[in-house]
Amino acid sequence: MLDGKRVLITGAGGGIGQAAAIPAAAEGARVMIADVNESWLEETIEIIRAAGKTAEMRVTDVTSESDVAGLIDDTVAALGGLDCAYNNAGIEGAWARTADSTLENFDRVVAVNQTGVYLCMRAEIQAMLKAGTPGSIVNTASIAGLAGAQFMPAYVASKHAVVGLTASAAMEYARKNIRVNAVCPGPIETRMLSSLASNHPRASEAMPEATAMKRLGQPREIAEAACWLMSDRASYVTGVALPVDGGMIAGP
Ligand SMILES: NC(=O)c1ccc[n+]([C@@H]2O[C@H](COP(=O)([O-])OP(=O)(O)OC[C@H]3O[C@@H](n4cnc5c(N)ncnc54)[C@H](O)[C@@H]3O)[C@@H](O)[C@H]2O)c1
Repeated sequence: MLDGKRVLITGAGGGIGQAAAIPAAAEGARVMIADVNESWLEETIEIIRAAGKTAEMRVTDVTSESDVAGLIDDTVAALGGLDCAYNNAGIEGAWARTADSTLENFDRVVAVNQTGVYLCMRAEIQAMLKAGTPGSIVNTASIAGLAGAQFMPAYVASKHAVVGLTASAAMEYARKNIRVNAVCPGPIETRMLSSLASNHPRASEAMPEATAMKRLGQPREIAEAACWLMSDRASYVTGVALPVDGGMIAGP
């Protein structure tokens, strides 16, 4: 799907981002991966190399405007341009009801999940417009970007913002041939969910039951959707927030 494309993926040190980087490289894309954690990025590079492919990496904090600017400059220089971007880095934040939550946690979650996506998307669109080439951007939102969820007000707010940023940019740049979409994962077996499970076992046990399929999703099941949305096969799709959630949002 992504053969020949120049692809940037953030949050690629594990979970969903890593699961997207591996097939993207395997399918012949030139890939830049970014994450705040260097050793996790190296792990992703090792997996890609073991499959006989290669990728570039850059340690990046998506909350930093200068880091993101450097990432986009390095990506364009290393890959020769930018066709597709998957803005996937995110954190879950602390688990607390609204009245018990802290401003510090709210600001941190919004900085990574919302401002991070905004900064990346802005710089990516600037690079695509400058080159005058078509582009495709995918953001990782969540089903928590489509409905409320208890105990994570900052996370829910930040993911609703990602859905809004996605739709707005899609409208703004459709006539420039830049598509912008979001994937909205349900509960997926990654480091993020493990941390939730260790701190809040009852909530985590309830998650598979809350899906129509009665199971957790795998990172590659989100990556498949993200890679499709990035690819030319989704050429008439823009501005959507696509649930990939085992039917969780479909109804109780
Ligand atoms: N796992 C789930 O159930 C689930 C459900 C819905 C949405 N999501 C979203 O999917 C995305 C990927 O999460 P995951 O489940 O693969 O978890 P994960 O923790 O395995 O991956 C998130 C990655 O983002 C990186 N990251 C965190 N802060 C960063 C920063 N400031 N700058 C750059 N990188 C940073 C982490 O180092 C990590 O490698 C997130 O946006 C998350 O909110 C996950």
